[in-house]
Amino acid sequence: MTAILKVCDVSKAFSGVHAVRGASFEVEQGSITGLIGPNGSGKSTTIDCISGFQRLDGGRVLLGDRDITGLRPAEIAKAGMIRTFQNVRVYDSYSLLDNLLVAEQAFRDLNWFDALARTPRYRKVREAAEDQARGLIELVGLTRLIDAPATVLSYGQKKLLAFAAAMMAKPRLIVLDEPVAGVNPSRVNEVADILREANATGISFLIVEHNVEFINSLCGKVIVLEQGRKLTEGTPALIRNDPRVLEAYLGIAPAEADAEAP
Ligand SMILES: Nc1ncnc2c1ncn2[C@@H]1O[C@H](COP(=O)(O)OP(=O)(O)OP(=O)(O)O)[C@@H](O)[C@H]1O
Ligand SMILES: [Mg+2]
Repeated sequence: MTAILKVCDVSKAFSGVHAVRGASFEVEQGSITGLIGPNGSGKSTTIDCISGFQRLDGGRVLLGDRDITGLRPAEIAKAGMIRTFQNVRVYDSYSLLDNLLVAEQAFRDLNWFDALARTPRYRKVREAAEDQARGLIELVGLTRLIDAPATVLSYGQKKLLAFAAAMMAKPRLIVLDEPVAGVNPSRVNEVADILREANATGISFLIVEHNVEFINSLCGKVIVLEQGRKLTEGTPALIRNDPRVLEAYLGIAPAEADAEAP
């Protein structure tokens, strides 16, 4: 198995709060890998560090063979890794289509003259981007709202739009921070299907999520963080039966948890 992402001994503190303390784990090429852990265990900070949104205090991050430690988010996106945010970020006043077009990296290789004069170079990039954007909006089931401003979307639909925008960069790896938190439970399976479909095209995923059923249904491997470190990792079945994981979530030993059960 080849790793698409290697996180090696990553640390990050915020004025004395050790959010991540030497976390190490790998995401296999082509996999959907889960990253779980109690509130405050350092999941989002780990993602911020690996995607360039926070500066690491220590450790290394490899994307494929490339060392991406300390690179800026745009450079990391160009290298093939895109992330979404726990607090969904979309451009509310832009249409769905425009939300995806602004995510198109290829426009950044054009100059102002191309854009202003609508040169053939610009038109070619624009047409290809629009085709891709329409396909992605269809993938996430929002075609009927394609020209509406993103502000009309529900919270769950905004998450789908943010996911589609992440796909615009044609990434090799997408890191999702709580993709179904706040999403209507009846729609969670649809999100899982969309991710499976994207995964079948070769995109690898690292997913942070508190919805254990969602994680178990999608992931071959689950990594558990506790207090900024990897506690354990394994298949969902293995993790489900690991008393240390229960202890980490409940903050008490399994024997005490049994005693407290009704
Ligand atoms: N910008 C920041 N400044 C100070 N402390 C921070 C900052 N970001 C995170 N922390 C702290 O770092 C720790 C880890 O936070 P993080 O958000 O990474 O956890 P999490 O596992 O994503 O939690 P949740 O499941 O609630 O989203 C927490 O104690 C948090 O308060
Ligand atoms: Mg978080």
